[in-house]
Amino acid sequence: MLQRRLVCTVDELPPGTMRLIDAGKFGVGVYNVGGALYAIVNYCPHEGAPLCRGLLGGTNETVPGEPGRLRRARDGQIMRCPWHNWEFDVTTGRNVADPRRRVRTYHVDVTDGKVYLTA
Ligand code: FES
Repeated sequence: MLQRRLVCTVDELPPGTMRLIDAGKFGVGVYNVGGALYAIVNYCPHEGAPLCRGLLGGTNETVPGEPGRLRRARDGQIMRCPWHNWEFDVTTGRNVADPRRRVRTYHVDVTDGKVYLTA
């Protein structure tokens, strides 16, 4: 049964950061991506690694950035699994290489300056 629980205050989860919450069987990572909040399960569907312990970055594709420079696509919203580097988009739960594969996502909301996770 889903339960709404307090994660932290909005100030404690600035853009580019994640909070790992003890929720469900594996835990849930709550992310701030450019001011928007998302949550994914801390479990990689490949072989069960703690996905949210991986690195947060962009894809290996590059897109135009500052004049004369390239930057990684979807920077700050791609979780790279710590075991075998599968990549998942935090905002959708979808695998970057194969969007048919995905991890579970959860609802996050803000009330009175506090972040809540429903998981
Ligand atoms: S367990 Fe995540 S990529 Fe293998």
